[in-house]
Amino acid sequence: MNVYGRVARPFDDRFDLTNRLHAAFLDRTVPEHARRYYFCFGGIAFLLILIEIVTGVILTFYYVPTPEEAYASTYYISHFVNYGWLVRSVHYWAAQLMVVFVIGHMLRVYLTASYKRPREFNWVIGVGLFALTMAFTLTGHLLPWDSGAYWSTTVTLSLADKIPVIGSSISYLMMGGEGVGAGTLTRFFSAHIMLLPAALALFLGAHFWMIRKQGISGPL
Ligand code: HEM
Repeated sequence: MNVYGRVARPFDDRFDLTNRLHAAFLDRTVPEHARRYYFCFGGIAFLLILIEIVTGVILTFYYVPTPEEAYASTYYISHFVNYGWLVRSVHYWAAQLMVVFVIGHMLRVYLTASYKRPREFNWVIGVGLFALTMAFTLTGHLLPWDSGAYWSTTVTLSLADKIPVIGSSISYLMMGGEGVGAGTLTRFFSAHIMLLPAALALFLGAHFWMIRKQGISGPL
């Protein structure tokens, strides 16, 4: 018996799952003008998010978010955990590609004028998604706790400190004390694996809901 027969058919026999999921999510015709590679950038960004979730969860099995252990634990993942180097590299490169494809997607939406009425709210949600992508990059970058991570975060937070009126509060809140240290690492780790994913889920839910309601924008 094949995999479908063993795994899915018992559920299909009882709940008609495959047909219902197909009707709910996949049974849509992509309009002719949208069958171009640059209309896939948003979907690719979503695929990369899924890769980030799977590899990120595996990394948390070994990563230790303390100044004493963080660097050693990432070294351990890369050199001693089976396929740890692969999981870590995929997590890193999918994150880089994510930035590339989110910017590509944003440019596509802009150049096809898809941000116009009635999709303005979805553009605003998109700006939130872009900010979240950048926040993931910033918080993830500190986690290996090497000198590059330490100094780039120090520079970013000192830039945040220069924002008029609220800057010093923002940088203090992110640092969790005076200067980049244990407090910063704990806060960035917590944001990277809990706060930001929760916000991303909410924003993506709203993004996809609006795309479903409004359909893909028409030809120019
Ligand atoms: C995490 C990042 C994002 C993901 C996963 C995502 C995903 C998607 C997907 C799958 C679509 C369907 C059409 C397509 O793929 O081109 C779409 C459409 C759209 N996205 Fe995004 N998106 C993201 C970020 C953004 C950003 C940064 C903006 C703008 C600032 C944006 C604005 C829009 C708009 C306005 C549409 C409707 C386009 C149309 O109807 O032609 N999105 N998004």
